[in-house]
Amino acid sequence: MNARFDPSGPLRGSLRVPADKSISHRAALIGAMASEPVRVRNYLDAADTRSTLTAVQRLGAIVEDRGAELVIRGCGLRNAMTPTNPIDVGNAGTLMRLLPGWLAFQQGRSFTLDGDESIRRRPVDRIAVPLQQMGARIEAREGRYPPFTVHGAPLQGIEYELPVASAQVKSCVLLAGLLTDATTVSETVASRDHTERMLAAAGAPVERIRDERGGYRTTVGNADELELELVEVPGDLSSAAFLIAAGVLVRDSRLVLERVGVNWTRAGFLRIIERMGAVVLTDGEEPGSFQAGEPVADIDVRNAPIEGTTVEAEEVPLAIDELPLVALLGCFAEGETLVRGAQELRIKESDRIATVVDGLRGLGADIEALPDGFVVKGTGGLRGGRLDAHGDHRLALLGAVAGLASETGVEVVGMDAAEVSYPRFAEDVAELVT
Ligand code: S3P
Repeated sequence: MNARFDPSGPLRGSLRVPADKSISHRAALIGAMASEPVRVRNYLDAADTRSTLTAVQRLGAIVEDRGAELVIRGCGLRNAMTPTNPIDVGNAGTLMRLLPGWLAFQQGRSFTLDGDESIRRRPVDRIAVPLQQMGARIEAREGRYPPFTVHGAPLQGIEYELPVASAQVKSCVLLAGLLTDATTVSETVASRDHTERMLAAAGAPVERIRDERGGYRTTVGNADELELELVEVPGDLSSAAFLIAAGVLVRDSRLVLERVGVNWTRAGFLRIIERMGAVVLTDGEEPGSFQAGEPVADIDVRNAPIEGTTVEAEEVPLAIDELPLVALLGCFAEGETLVRGAQELRIKESDRIATVVDGLRGLGADIEALPDGFVVKGTGGLRGGRLDAHGDHRLALLGAVAGLASETGVEVVGMDAAEVSYPRFAEDVAELVT
């Protein structure tokens, strides 16, 4: 499905963005691993997180939709059931990389995971390596791609240093560590810590310390069982980021995005955009505004001139999914915008260095790809044209925002890709346009 986004009038008003995708995945998985029912409010209703609900149901969890909340009746840590067919993760990389952490200690049982065409291009060796060190056996196509099979076994604790800054890999190892004496993951730069926060809320012993190199060491100990009464999922900062960028770029805009998760390990984009000169105010973070151990705030954005900035490797994991928007903002900024140390972008739902650079260039941007990022020369605006989403939700949404701020509008080829995280983007924009 193609969709046109024409140059927009001011975006004004307040809105609640969709629920956080990362936290919704974790709520469903940890709910499935728990011994008592877990109530989940504001679970994201989108394709990726529906894949997670289906997956946990196939493993024996019961999911009741009570309208205002979901109730997940889990299997307990040790008792995942074996489905007869492969588990379909759809397009959800987070599901594909986190779920094996739980499956790896289902002794004597095997589980095959598969997904769509894009998932089949995304590597799983990054989780297979630590899980095999712990004692599980993983068989993957060509040694590193889905479909792949996890053969569960009793696991032993490990100390694992992440070779790439990835919250998905960290989370997988921490989940696998729940029945070990102690499992430690170290990372040289911080990545999102939603799993740690939710496991701690569910009663697992979790300790996170700063190490002497400025990185983090996170240790989980034997949890035996998990109990979590209620998770209230905050708004997704990564979805909010599209409206934040639109608010900054579209003349005379002023909007408030309500109750968005602003955990500092996710909020790198807010710091980057402020450095570029945008006025983005966040309130909240006071006691009582914590949901699922996560701080939430209202984000108040207004249109402003912006200037170029540099994003270095240590900031990359804190804004990984928002870096395409940094490229777009760079087109409108004064001076140069540089992102480096972001080679991880090449293995997202698409090669996001290639697709962002080609996509924005096709709209008139002066942008070059680097092996690990991109450099944009701001020209104060963007002409418009056609942008192919390449089946990548963040590309589709990037094209949509580019259209709103462009001179002639943007036709997004494959807008339906946005279904996995932000299905009602166009409706939300229509609500904000005065
Ligand atoms: C995610 C972590 C990030 C991010 C993805 C969601 C998560 O991936 O890009 O959209 O929920 O843990 P990596 O941790 O592999 O960079």
